[in-house]
Amino acid sequence: MEIVIAPSSELAKRAAQEIVRLIGERPHAVLGLATGSSPLETYDAVTALYEKGAVSFAQASAFTLDEYVGLPPGHPESYREFIIENFVSRVDLPLENLHTPPGNLDDVEQGARDYDEAIRAAGGVDLQILGIGGNGHIGFNEPGSDLESRTHIEKLAERTRIDNARFFGGNIDDVPTHAITQGVGTILEARQLVLIASGTSKADAVAQLVDGGITSSCPASVIQSHSNALVLLDEAAASSLK
Ligand code: GLP
Repeated sequence: MEIVIAPSSELAKRAAQEIVRLIGERPHAVLGLATGSSPLETYDAVTALYEKGAVSFAQASAFTLDEYVGLPPGHPESYREFIIENFVSRVDLPLENLHTPPGNLDDVEQGARDYDEAIRAAGGVDLQILGIGGNGHIGFNEPGSDLESRTHIEKLAERTRIDNARFFGGNIDDVPTHAITQGVGTILEARQLVLIASGTSKADAVAQLVDGGITSSCPASVIQSHSNALVLLDEAAASSLK
């Protein structure tokens, strides 16, 4: 696990470089995209490089990590809408090459199994961007999760619903109670992981991730076991490290 501590603009540049390098080597690469605020500067940095002609996603494809269950299609807070608005619509990645977990099927559990299978059928994720929840979740794999899980439905932790209420007008009652998420086992199969964390609200989770053992009380701690993982931290997120 490589750890870089730097200002967030530098972290975004580093993450963007990793993406651009991969696409340069493998134009057909499969990207794993994360939503949430953590990767936004990275998506801005990648978009800036795309606009300069440094990279093209015309042959690439992407799978996102997670999605709320029960939001109507096109809901502005659905993660599909989020990733289209903040990344996919700004570059030349074909919309038909964007895959997002289905949060509003009649049979979401079958949808979860199909999603996992689709990732495998695509040859697996080459580079997975990750954020981390304040409680140590990755994707929506909450504390206590099975560390070998595949894509599944997860009941959201109270802390997560409180943290994410800011996206729903500040009202926790409007935050869905469940999500569909790539499992920890699914995420670990990506060939490279790039986790981005900033701010003091992530400091405890980051300390658990880096200094604690691998434990389901901090699902992100599994990253320690990955052979090609880059952890990008600003000073605040790194402030509780030993
Ligand atoms: C969200 C998402 C995660 C994200 C994390 C951190 O709820 N499910 O994929 O990485 O929590 O979010 P943020 O980057 O907004 O702090």
